[in-house]
Amino acid sequence: MDMQPIAARPGNHNLANYEEKRASFDWEEVKKNFSWYETGKVNVAYETIDRHAENPDKKNQPALIYSAPDREEVLTFDQLKKASNQFANVLKDHGIEKGDRVFLFMPRSPEFYASFFGILKVGAIAGPLFEAFMEQAVRDRLEDSEATMLITTPDLLYRVPENELPNLKKIVLVGDSEKISERYINYYKETEQASEEFDIEWVDLEDGMLLHYTSGSTGKPKGVYHVHNAMIQHYATGDWVIDLKEDDIYWCTADPGWVTGTSYGIFAPWLHGVTNVIRGGRFTPESWYGTIDKHNVTVWYSAPTAFRKLVSSGVDVIKQFDLSSLRHVMSVGEPLNPEVITWGMKALNLRIHDTWWMTETGGMLIVNYPSMDIRPGSMGKPIPGVEAAIVDDQGNELPPNQMGNLAIKQGWPSMMRAIWKNPGKYESYFINGWYVSGDSAYMDEDGYFWFQGRLDDVINTSGERVGPFEVESKLIEHPAVAEAGVIGKPDPERGEIIKAFITLNDGYEANDELLEDIRVFVKTGLSAHAAPREIEVKDTIPKTRSGKIMRRLLKSWELGLPTGDTSTLEE
Ligand code: WTA
Repeated sequence: MDMQPIAARPGNHNLANYEEKRASFDWEEVKKNFSWYETGKVNVAYETIDRHAENPDKKNQPALIYSAPDREEVLTFDQLKKASNQFANVLKDHGIEKGDRVFLFMPRSPEFYASFFGILKVGAIAGPLFEAFMEQAVRDRLEDSEATMLITTPDLLYRVPENELPNLKKIVLVGDSEKISERYINYYKETEQASEEFDIEWVDLEDGMLLHYTSGSTGKPKGVYHVHNAMIQHYATGDWVIDLKEDDIYWCTADPGWVTGTSYGIFAPWLHGVTNVIRGGRFTPESWYGTIDKHNVTVWYSAPTAFRKLVSSGVDVIKQFDLSSLRHVMSVGEPLNPEVITWGMKALNLRIHDTWWMTETGGMLIVNYPSMDIRPGSMGKPIPGVEAAIVDDQGNELPPNQMGNLAIKQGWPSMMRAIWKNPGKYESYFINGWYVSGDSAYMDEDGYFWFQGRLDDVINTSGERVGPFEVESKLIEHPAVAEAGVIGKPDPERGEIIKAFITLNDGYEANDELLEDIRVFVKTGLSAHAAPREIEVKDTIPKTRSGKIMRRLLKSWELGLPTGDTSTLEE
């Protein structure tokens, strides 16, 4: 679709002079906003929570508005400081130290956020997991990270294979449980007795803060390691892109199991001291519009998959709500369809601003600013302090309008510092000083970037990154499945759905019941979002002579495209 640019509305935008700022920008300038610029002592939990709690004008301002069907709760900065201090004391009592990995496996709740900051306050590294994960997904991540402590709920404990995780020494249970021993810690009992004062562990800017596991096209999920230094970028993009002002009510819909839910669901808004709405429970158009209406949300950050659902739910629903508080809307995770932008103009009377970045990049890199003209379908332009380009496979820059690897010049503050215990994988991201994203794109003559697709086999289903290898591995654990090849199949609402091609072992016959059983097997073993929506039984799965599944070929079959070079195909 070819659409006219949508001009920015004149207004009081935090970054009104983009081109000028880009030309003269220095990250050192952003650092001067922080007290550690003087002292050298740093902890992101202090900058996000305690700093505001110590400010008499801000301490009683709501920091967190938690809203779920069965629970509503407000915590001020002061209350969140005290709750996280209490949990930090509990962690310390149980021997958690700087650098230890402490994982969180639970739904969003006030306890989640208090625990998260408690972990950071003792200098430990937080590892948030989606509550939808099943046993294998939980095991892979706790095993690889060698986490010594897990915070979870009694309901989710059955998915934690404790006897296979020798490093996991303690489990904090948020909720009532019969389990009482040295190993199990009752969250409410212990935090209640803990002091509300805590001496924060001051760390170095390059010390660890977060581990986010994410999928590639091969192997198990990888631990993307982020350090406290990332706050510089979270702060800057909160200012320029999210356009946060002191009295905003901000809502980021992402779960903290995903990097959007930490970088922009936790750090950016609270570094700016704004009130942050956290919503629990399932998605329905009514409950989402209702959240904006009820809490007078002013700034909203969500994802194309959610916007598409809202588009298809129609205009009658939206008319039941007052959304006039909204002033700024952003999107991330998948290409933002121009149709959705058109819907935004009609339904919300606002532009939806696309932003591009990755778990590995830790923060936004290519974005649409409130102050810039939007070209619908484009991801926008790089933020000040970031150099983006399209490069060939040798890392040479390509001219405008030529498709190639979307790459970023090394050196932005929120870049991952390692792939956990996998230096080889980390190195493989870089060519010639460029971080190569794995996305293909082109840049037009005016410097706008346009996303084309993934260059590897990674699947993006409803904004979730799924590695085909993980799903294939689970599939072949099913007694009926001999071989499996998994691809992303284009889908109008979900972006892509997961489609599996399988061969069956002798003695099994393809029928609906068996295929459903296989689907449920992946769903209950790995996670719901990784379960194939379509399964097709084949006589053989195409492989290279070295035994690699040719997913590219499966995809061409599925889409009825030419099959291209098949010279490496096994006989
Ligand atoms: C895709 C963390 C198109 C892309 C935020 C990227 C996007 C991957 C966009 C990262 C966008 C993200 N337009 N595609 N605005 N934003 N992607 O780490 O393929 O879960 O490489 O995202 O999502 O996925 P991740």
